[in-house]
Amino acid sequence: MFEKYLLQFQSALNDEIRALRKSGGQKTFLSDGCYLGKRLDRYVYSFTADTELRFPDDTPVDLEYRGKKYKGTIVSIEGFELILGLENHLGDAIATAILFTAPWFLLEELKKRLEEVKNLKSANVSLALKLLGKTSESIPATSSQAHKILNKLEQQLGKPIEYNENQLLAIDKILSQNVSFIWGPPGTGKTKTLGMAVATLVQAGESVLVVAHSNAAVDVAMLSVAQYLQASPVYKNGLVLRYGVTNLSSLDRFPQLHVRGVLEQHNPALSSQIEQLEKQKKSLVRQSRNEKLSDLQRQQLKTQIALVKQKLQPLKEQLKEKEAELIRQANVVGCTLSKAAIAQEVHQRRFDAVVIDEASMAYIPHCAFISTLARRRVAVFGDFRQLGPISQADTEAAREWLQQDIFNEAGITASVKRGCTDPILVLLKIQYRK
Ligand SMILES: Nc1ncnc2c1ncn2[C@@H]1O[C@H](COP(=O)(O)OP(=O)(O)O)[C@@H](O)[C@H]1O
Ligand SMILES: [Mg+2]
Repeated sequence: MFEKYLLQFQSALNDEIRALRKSGGQKTFLSDGCYLGKRLDRYVYSFTADTELRFPDDTPVDLEYRGKKYKGTIVSIEGFELILGLENHLGDAIATAILFTAPWFLLEELKKRLEEVKNLKSANVSLALKLLGKTSESIPATSSQAHKILNKLEQQLGKPIEYNENQLLAIDKILSQNVSFIWGPPGTGKTKTLGMAVATLVQAGESVLVVAHSNAAVDVAMLSVAQYLQASPVYKNGLVLRYGVTNLSSLDRFPQLHVRGVLEQHNPALSSQIEQLEKQKKSLVRQSRNEKLSDLQRQQLKTQIALVKQKLQPLKEQLKEKEAELIRQANVVGCTLSKAAIAQEVHQRRFDAVVIDEASMAYIPHCAFISTLARRRVAVFGDFRQLGPISQADTEAAREWLQQDIFNEAGITASVKRGCTDPILVLLKIQYRK
């Protein structure tokens, strides 16, 4: 039965890839580049684009600046405003630059992952089918463990945790069911509930993958998780990890939360060696820009730069391998849906639970794929009255699978509209912030 879905997903993704290729999007002119700061291993810059951009977060890019290309990824996009995470520092201001990207790359990757699901025994296809609302299996009675576990967390934190009745019910459902939907308008505490639920699952011994469509949403979700797990041994041991480029300074309060932070703590010698070499490289590059240099001097500098690069390469690879190892062992990993589909260390491992925040903006094929990574359960948080997923293709398949959200597909939207109670759904109604 899942095969049938896969075929439809593939066809929608093919339509979207075709539409993206047609509209180009490969070359964008950027201006007003401004260095925002170093976020662990990335140099973060803001830019203004000459057209409105529609690329997903974590899309790999090349930035052409002064005739040279530099690698990076998209951290976030809002209309014309773009944040990039670059591998190199290019000074404090970049007047103009050209962005090269193949935004269909992430969709090609998702297609590959869906293709793999067919032949992977460990892919939890039946959970994906349940998520899509395609099984009528009986729902187990909701347990009442949440309250007890939250009490323990309160003791660990040394302060009370606030939650209302429906938030507690949501956590109970997540703990006992395979599929749960938590729905509510903005400000009703969905992301807060997500944080409490993840902490509770971790206390109950489960590993959790936390995903969302955008980096910004993953940051906020992981911040919520850290709030409840900060006093726990798993957090202190560097096993609660945000993976990917972030641009949220409030994450600085939790240096242990980012995989790069933990990596640097666990490998101080390697990290400082890399830092030294990076500094050396930067200074050599600066020297080589001096116009008064003789040809010989220029050549010598070039050789020196190449030498430093040669030394850096294996060290960086070593660090990357260690990073992947941390992700493979972590109890909680937080990243975007795109990152989960491209990073082997995420999609080749299994988690007990997968939790999706702001799910109304995620593609259905992405949600289905990500739930195949969960051994036991998937919990979906969101607000289906908000903007749905964005896709360019104007075909039936795209409209059905890329322009509707998972709430619609699973029948949640319909049951809320009918005012029905659905055992897999919890509504959050009290608005704490509008
Ligand atoms: N039970 C609660 N008691 C007090 N404050 C709450 C409660 N639930 C949520 N909040 C607060 O409401 C605000 C919005 O919560 P958030 O989780 O971001 O909502 P959503 O994700 O639904 O938009 C946050 O400041 C959060 O701390
Ligand atoms: Mg939220």
